[in-house]
Amino acid sequence: MKKQVGIEALAIAVPRRYVDIEDLARARGVDPAKFTVGLGAKEMAVADPGEDSVALAATAAARVIQRNNVDPAKVGMLVVGTETGVDHSKAVASHVQGLLKLPRSMRTYDTQHACYGGTAGLMAAVEWIASGAGAGRSAIVVCSDIARYGLNTAGEPTQGGGAVALLVSEQPDLLALDIGLNGVSSNDVYDFWRPLGRREAVVDGHYSISCYLEALAGAYRGWRERALAHEVVRWGETLPGEQLARILYHVPFCKMARKAHTQLRLCDLEDAPGAAESTPAAREETAKSSASYDAQVASSLGLNARIGNVYTASLYLALAGLLQGESAALAGKRIGLLSYGSGCCAEFYSGVVGEAAAQRMAKADVESVIAKRERITLDEYERIMRLSYDAPERVSPAPGEFRLVEIRDHRRIYAAG
Ligand code: HMG
Repeated sequence: MKKQVGIEALAIAVPRRYVDIEDLARARGVDPAKFTVGLGAKEMAVADPGEDSVALAATAAARVIQRNNVDPAKVGMLVVGTETGVDHSKAVASHVQGLLKLPRSMRTYDTQHACYGGTAGLMAAVEWIASGAGAGRSAIVVCSDIARYGLNTAGEPTQGGGAVALLVSEQPDLLALDIGLNGVSSNDVYDFWRPLGRREAVVDGHYSISCYLEALAGAYRGWRERALAHEVVRWGETLPGEQLARILYHVPFCKMARKAHTQLRLCDLEDAPGAAESTPAAREETAKSSASYDAQVASSLGLNARIGNVYTASLYLALAGLLQGESAALAGKRIGLLSYGSGCCAEFYSGVVGEAAAQRMAKADVESVIAKRERITLDEYERIMRLSYDAPERVSPAPGEFRLVEIRDHRRIYAAG
């Protein structure tokens, strides 16, 4: 029997403060509906300098280990996917290893390719385990980022921050991956980037959306070709994409998932046997189906709407959001996942939700992590955004959390709560 490999458990960490997106809209003189309806946002996480990608990654990793009674001696790989690392050389993963006092017998490294970096790490871990190289050991993959465009920019309402830690093993209680079906599409484009030394991203916003959609089409078609060959999906009364119980997308802002879903359906409608009998306009109309979006996508976006973009972690926040509400109903069912990183690289993959997913999600207790946050005013948000990132405020970390407290001789010092 083929080895089952995938995500056994997950945990999240988020900044302790957020703004209401309507407060941001009003402060910017924008109709709040543009942010709530036009972008699909509700709230936006605000990370202060103490809540950097290391602190968030360490908090999420500690939670996944403690809440699932993971024996660190059986973890052979710790990978952090991030595009907001804290050093050109020293890996976020090595900080996390030190903060959590993990054994020295594990591989530690970071993976970077914009928002795709986390998925790159996940696939490295899955393939390491599936190949047998892991010799039965598990891996921890943490996606951790602070999405930041700056005050008064078009990207401002699509900021956020947080981390999702994934325990990857041969006991995929949350999601057993369909190894060998993944479809990939990459291209050298300047849609979103952050030159060395810059804290804020540079983005060609509307172009980035078209790059995402084009890459999605290539990745999805690659997956579909293999899924058809393996009879995981088929052309029939329903489209191949409709045969997935849910589809999760990279979510820079929630409305993007709707655009992505329309694009995926368009791929199926254009390629379906007999497509020539319909017009492009009719296919576009069918692709936009709200019923399909409501049934396959909408239920995964609850956390994303409250946190904002978390770059590498956004897709996995959607996974957490989906499974916290629907684990039991989805047990045994196949879902699709689309990862996109600007620059760009997209990967579409699928997996089957595990029978023990509900128990694992209860341990993640995602709702209580979110509920502990504090809503702040726009003045407070702007004050935090103006803080120097190398001078963290003197705030004690909450129990079980980590914070950057000082940078001394270019060394970052963290405290545990
Ligand atoms: P914008 O240009 O200010 O907004 O910035 P817009 O004019 O395009 O409006 C946005 C939507 O609101 C539109 O809906 C409007 O119609 C609607 P759409 O036509 O797109 O469906 N709208 C309204 N709706 C209701 N009531 C109103 C109203 N007014 C307008 N009154 C943009 C939007 C997303 C470009 C900007 O926020 C931005 O640049 N964000 C950052 C870039 C980004 O998120 N790109 C996404 C794809 S690339 C990606 O996902 C990778 C990324 O995560 C990075 C990585 O890989 O590391 C970003």
